[in-house]
Amino acid sequence: MSARKPVYYGEYLGLDALLGAQKPLSGRDGRPAHDEMLFIITHQAYELWFKQILHELDSVREDFSGRTVPESRIGTAVARLSRVVEIQKLLVDQLRVLETMTPLDFLDFRDALTPASGFQSFQFRLIERKLGLPDSTRAKFEDTPYFKRLSGAHRKLVLAAGKSDSLFALVERWLERTPFTRFGGFDFWREYRKAVGAMLDRDERIIRSNPALDPEGLARELQALGATRVSFGALLDPERHALLVRDGSWRLSHAATLSALLIHLYRDRPILHEPFRLLEKLVEVDEQFALWRTRHAIMVHRMIGTKIGTGGSSGHQYLMKAAAAHRVFGDLFNLSTFLIPRSSLPKLPPKVARALGFAHGAA
Ligand code: HEM
Repeated sequence: MSARKPVYYGEYLGLDALLGAQKPLSGRDGRPAHDEMLFIITHQAYELWFKQILHELDSVREDFSGRTVPESRIGTAVARLSRVVEIQKLLVDQLRVLETMTPLDFLDFRDALTPASGFQSFQFRLIERKLGLPDSTRAKFEDTPYFKRLSGAHRKLVLAAGKSDSLFALVERWLERTPFTRFGGFDFWREYRKAVGAMLDRDERIIRSNPALDPEGLARELQALGATRVSFGALLDPERHALLVRDGSWRLSHAATLSALLIHLYRDRPILHEPFRLLEKLVEVDEQFALWRTRHAIMVHRMIGTKIGTGGSSGHQYLMKAAAAHRVFGDLFNLSTFLIPRSSLPKLPPKVARALGFAHGAA
């Protein structure tokens, strides 16, 4: 057997290509801008981490794409999504390094970049698509679809990613398949409706007896409570739920919503620990992206004020709109509205309680 060639660090990591990939443009006119190197390296570091995030998301999507999801793979998905969340925290923090560049330093090379922009990061778009960000909820960017700004090859990749199942769709199907919402003869949802009704009645009494509210404030609070009652009513009624889905105010299917709610309510039961952790991780991924978007938008405001972006958007304004609108798992956040204290939860019949103590095997 021939001896294996010794692995050389620089070769293994492809350092010649990696370290040769910083090509500042500002020197072309004889006035190199010192900070352009930082700008390039920061973006490249982001793109490397985006690649790792895609690697993790693809593996979770793969595990969830079968007809069943083996119990052990849920733990793996939780571990991989936890890794994604840690990377995202780094991505938020990393903007601090870029902010050591002042707006004037940026102006030294900004014009050389036009019309390139992070808006054209195809990996960022792949992450959005693979997570399941719907195009219909995107903030408007000059009335042209975002993928029109990508090169032909990148556009193809991003559009192809939209044709396979997103993590949102796969998790939705997994939730629909879980057997937790069927309780034999026990009408869990009737008992639960009563408990939530009592909670909302209590909230209404608190609002009405709040001396700090003027008539306008009172009307506002009561209106918000009324809206909560409406969405709660829709939560348990498939037809009203379908209306919410149609008008875009809810996205998760009725069956999946009920499963997710049950997982939240009974997360202390052994069988629901991992499913709960999974839902929690999805919320964290969404939260970290919202934080990144907001943090990036604030940095952009500081860097370019109210100028338009190099990609031609309204800059800070567009980015703030995107930060508010570009959410994937918003329904999982909204579920918290309908949580009731453990002490008010309907008591489960022994047979159901027993079933929630062991592996269900049907996920
Ligand atoms: C001086 C630093 C930066 C400035 C002034 C800046 C500015 C902007 C602006 C104005 C936009 C909106 C599109 C446009 O009109 O160009 C944008 C979008 C974007 N930027 Fe940055 N950016 C900076 C750094 C970064 C970094 C380090 C990343 C990391 C990859 C990044 C990633 C993105 C992404 C992904 C978008 C698209 C966001 C979306 O459509 O939701 N940017 N940027």
